[in-house]
Amino acid sequence: MEAFPLHQIAVDKLSVYINRSHTFIHSTVLICMIVYRVSSFLFNKDSQAIPLIPWLLIFSSELLLGFIWLMKSAYNWRPISRSVFLERLPPDDDLPPIDVFICTADPVREPPLKVMNTVLSSMALDYPPGKLSVYLSDDAGSSLTLYAIHEAWDFGRLWVPFCRKYAIKNGCPEAYFSTTIDDHGNKIGFQEEQKNIEVEYEKFKESLRIAGESIGAKSSQDHPAMIEIIGSKDPVIADSDDAKMPRVVYVSREKRPSHPHNFKAGSLNVLLRVSGIISNSPYILVLDCDMYCNDSTSARQAMCFHLDQKMCSSLAFVQFPQKFGNISKNDIYDAALRYIFVVMWPGMDGLRGPILSGTCFYIKREALYGRSREKDVDLVQLKQSFGPSNEFLRSLKTKRTSHSDNKVVDDQDSGTALLQETRFVGSPTYETNTAWGKEIGFLYDSVVEDYFTGFILHCRGWSSVFCNPQRPAFLGSSPTNLSDTLIQGTRWNTGLLEVFLSRFCPIIYGLGRVPLLDCMCYAYFSAQPLYCFPVWCLAIVPQLCLLNGIPVYPRVSSPWFIPYSVAFLSTLGIHLWDVLRTGGTTRIWWNEWRVWMIKSVTAYFYGSLDALLKLFGVKEASFVPTNKVADGEQVKRYQLGIYDFQASTMLLAPLVTLVILNMVSFIWGIGKSTLAGGWGELFGQIFLSFFILIVNYPIIEGMMLRKDKGRIPPSATLFSLACSFLILLFGYTAFFYRS
Ligand SMILES: *[C@@H]1O[C@H](CO)[C@@H](O)[C@H](O)[C@H]1NC(C)=O
Repeated sequence: MEAFPLHQIAVDKLSVYINRSHTFIHSTVLICMIVYRVSSFLFNKDSQAIPLIPWLLIFSSELLLGFIWLMKSAYNWRPISRSVFLERLPPDDDLPPIDVFICTADPVREPPLKVMNTVLSSMALDYPPGKLSVYLSDDAGSSLTLYAIHEAWDFGRLWVPFCRKYAIKNGCPEAYFSTTIDDHGNKIGFQEEQKNIEVEYEKFKESLRIAGESIGAKSSQDHPAMIEIIGSKDPVIADSDDAKMPRVVYVSREKRPSHPHNFKAGSLNVLLRVSGIISNSPYILVLDCDMYCNDSTSARQAMCFHLDQKMCSSLAFVQFPQKFGNISKNDIYDAALRYIFVVMWPGMDGLRGPILSGTCFYIKREALYGRSREKDVDLVQLKQSFGPSNEFLRSLKTKRTSHSDNKVVDDQDSGTALLQETRFVGSPTYETNTAWGKEIGFLYDSVVEDYFTGFILHCRGWSSVFCNPQRPAFLGSSPTNLSDTLIQGTRWNTGLLEVFLSRFCPIIYGLGRVPLLDCMCYAYFSAQPLYCFPVWCLAIVPQLCLLNGIPVYPRVSSPWFIPYSVAFLSTLGIHLWDVLRTGGTTRIWWNEWRVWMIKSVTAYFYGSLDALLKLFGVKEASFVPTNKVADGEQVKRYQLGIYDFQASTMLLAPLVTLVILNMVSFIWGIGKSTLAGGWGELFGQIFLSFFILIVNYPIIEGMMLRKDKGRIPPSATLFSLACSFLILLFGYTAFFYRS
């Protein structure tokens, strides 16, 4: 076994070389820039010196950008990629069992058919069926979802054996039937069988549609616990064929308006306890309900790491990238979050491992049980941490290897008692005065429970790996319009900045607990919303200075101009390199700049405001704007690479205001330098405005040239005009007024 490792890593040597050179050059020029800022302020006594307030704003923006860049450079230190050797895994009998957790919360936004496709795809994982249990958490307690999972089970009894028989990699029926060529290049041999299954699938869909009409997609925030092992009650079904089926469990935890339910982390913790009693598998796959398994071998791929003798004692989870099936080639909204999964996670993988990313990961159950699990801890202490369920406490001590060890569930009477117990651990009061959510399970301290839980796991000495195979292991769909992208971003960024401003701030809490570079990676991720400050400042202050004839950057002929131009070019350059080496195009590179600016002045900005308000105790206030209803045209425009600006004015106004302001300053600057017969000292500022304008050209177009429904509404433009006027007025009186 030692001689044949289950996986191997490849360090991207060229990248390491280029990245580290960039880090060296960039830090040198940053120091020069700081020296210039300070000295030009202290020693420049002429009338054109920058007044104090603009100087402070520009300098602190530059410092903050420098700080965030420094944190970010940790991702570039040692990017690696991994490959696995499935054929070297132990025989099926020796593989450990796996529980799959799928969470859904709203039968309207997450239609049962889609959720069931995810359930079916995970039932069809290429793994011994006796060692696979699929748990669906339905937080809405919807009878439609319960009905759907029964139907899915019935269809699954045909689908799962079919997938196994023909080694179908894509276990999601909807995706499978919508393609014309299968994984093996259209096998003719099972055409007939394939058609039959397709007919059954259509019937299954139809039954859900009819049920949707009669039952209705209702969700409830006030309902008792409802836990059911699907298929096991029906005596007819309990025939030998079912040995080929994984176990499927429907879990709807008890919800009461009077008790906090802690969102997704709360339902994952209920699943941890319920599954602990029912199957207690040592490994868990967590999936969002819209992320189906696109490669049935992902479980085996994950086991190549979890079963590796050398790393398994410290390995907490294997993270797969989130990939999306509905991303267009140019992806103008960066809906794929490309940079995270092709640059940042592989970068962290070369350190202690990637950040836990909410979905698509195989995690070790033991890692989630915290420190309180040591063998010699007595029962009283265990009860204090894990709650009073004896059945669950017993599960902490035992390891089950497959269904067949699990006599209790199959026996009718004790089966009923067991279900009773699962309802008990699924009640909202179960966690009162225990360590759930504080030290055990998924943690409640932050709304970005994945990021936070992963961070704490790393702090406790666990590691993780990033597995990014050629064929996407999981596929989902991502919102592909401006409004949804920014609103989602605002929520995440509130959570991330909250962590940064809390006592768990990665650079403070993490120091000494995780290696410095990992600390920096975590810090960057949570500090990202702070980009809003420098981006806002640098899109306003140098421009106001320009209008007042005050230079803020060195003249082109000055040696101080060199660090500024090097910093600018090396930032553009390293990003271009990152995009190109990971399979992107120059167009994507340019898009990512635009999306970054757009997010900085909206999602990061509102997210930061929210986080700050919460910090100061204003809990109710929220800057998360409301969703606009999407229409079919939006999807079309996205695919054509045309921006669709149907979003609330709250999101549009900052963008349009800044663009107008920069247009004014650019035109003014050009006019002035033409009259003066040269750029003089104002080149830097004129160029900055120019850069902002060309990056954001689609906004100018949406504002002035387009007439379609996706343009920027004139009302938003007018409002923004008023805003820019106010900024000009305010800037003039506050910054430059000299008595
Ligand atoms: C991608 O999927 C999301 C969520 O289902 C949907 O809102 C969006 O319109 C889809 N985009 C495309 C281009 O199909």
